[in-house]
Amino acid sequence: MSAPVRTTRLITQRRRPRGMPVPEDFAGTELPLVAPAEGQAVVENLWLSVDPYMREAMDAEWELGAPLEGRSIGRVVESRSVGLPVGALVFHREGWRTHAVVSEAEVRVLPRYEGVATESFLGLLGGTGLTAYVALTRIARLRAGEAVYVSAAAGGVGTAAGRLARLLGAGRIVGSAGSPAKVRLLTEELGYDAAFDHRAGLSLSGQLARAAPDGIDVYIDNVGGDHLEAAIGAMREDGRIAWCGAIAQYNAGCAPAAPRNLFDLVEKSIRLEGFLVSRHRDAQAELEEFLVPHLRSGRITDRLSVTEGFERTVDAFLGMLRGENTGKAVVRLGPADPEPVSDDTP
Ligand SMILES: NC(=O)c1ccc[n+]([C@@H]2O[C@H](COP(=O)([O-])OP(=O)(O)OC[C@H]3O[C@@H](n4cnc5c(N)ncnc54)[C@H](OP(=O)(O)O)[C@@H]3O)[C@@H](O)[C@H]2O)c1
Repeated sequence: MSAPVRTTRLITQRRRPRGMPVPEDFAGTELPLVAPAEGQAVVENLWLSVDPYMREAMDAEWELGAPLEGRSIGRVVESRSVGLPVGALVFHREGWRTHAVVSEAEVRVLPRYEGVATESFLGLLGGTGLTAYVALTRIARLRAGEAVYVSAAAGGVGTAAGRLARLLGAGRIVGSAGSPAKVRLLTEELGYDAAFDHRAGLSLSGQLARAAPDGIDVYIDNVGGDHLEAAIGAMREDGRIAWCGAIAQYNAGCAPAAPRNLFDLVEKSIRLEGFLVSRHRDAQAELEEFLVPHLRSGRITDRLSVTEGFERTVDAFLGMLRGENTGKAVVRLGPADPEPVSDDTP
């Protein structure tokens, strides 16, 4: 039997970023790991998620010098909890570190879906896929045949939204992303009917009008600002906007001028609704029931942008903010995962 793990490597925030974060805003350190109490277990992290909301948390919410947190998948390596047996793969929120002590109530023991990779629980079956699913089904209430526009379409939520929209029966699906290569990826591999490069220096409204000449019914907004303004302009009557995020403003230090055409919401009877996926956790079972058969059949595959090695976590985070990822940005800490222990095959 291997010796108990008694230290963890972790990343802390050294100072508040000014605009785009830099590596010097972070520090790596090694700290003692407390022995698990009754009902707790030690988890060795295998996968970490790096997400745009973390940039927002760095401005004030996250305490300087404290261990950072985020969605992760790990394997139980020592346990004092019957519900968390050694070898179990668990989803938890103690990211930005190699090991964590967790309690049963804080984690989800991951089910085993034959043919579905464990890391999908950070991608299509995780908060990313759930955000796209909730945006389309609960917020925008997409109907068959409707035209959909997705911004940051080559990212985690964006790649999920495009493919989920197709499975849900959308009509024309258009996306915007930040390079010609991403635009090709969207149309050639990810099921988008048309796409355009928002960094090409051209008018967003003009590009969107060309990509969706008959207008759009649903907009999944990951960017805000000028993208939201262009989408409102292209929207048909009774359109719906599911506002997921505003990545254009997270590093800007201030909110962009509001879309100048907000009154179009009134004239075209458009509904704009913001939401947080954390308020829709009850949709998780529905998402898995819907998506797992498609993942198993290969009709949809998870698209992850994998950075190798814990020591490259900050690089992965900064790269995601710069737009270097295609699909969900994750960090792989260890070798291939063992099989999950529980069997919850639907
Ligand atoms: N409401 C919720 O509960 C919820 C949950 C999850 C995520 N979100 C939001 O959803 C959005 C996408 O999140 P994600 O995790 O899927 O990240 P992501 O899209 O995988 O990564 C961020 C992407 O944003 C694009 N980007 C960066 N700066 C930009 C700018 N100034 N203008 C336009 N695009 C820019 C980059 O792609 P390009 O190369 O294409 O520019 C980058 O790849 C974020 O706004 C996030 O906050 C919301």
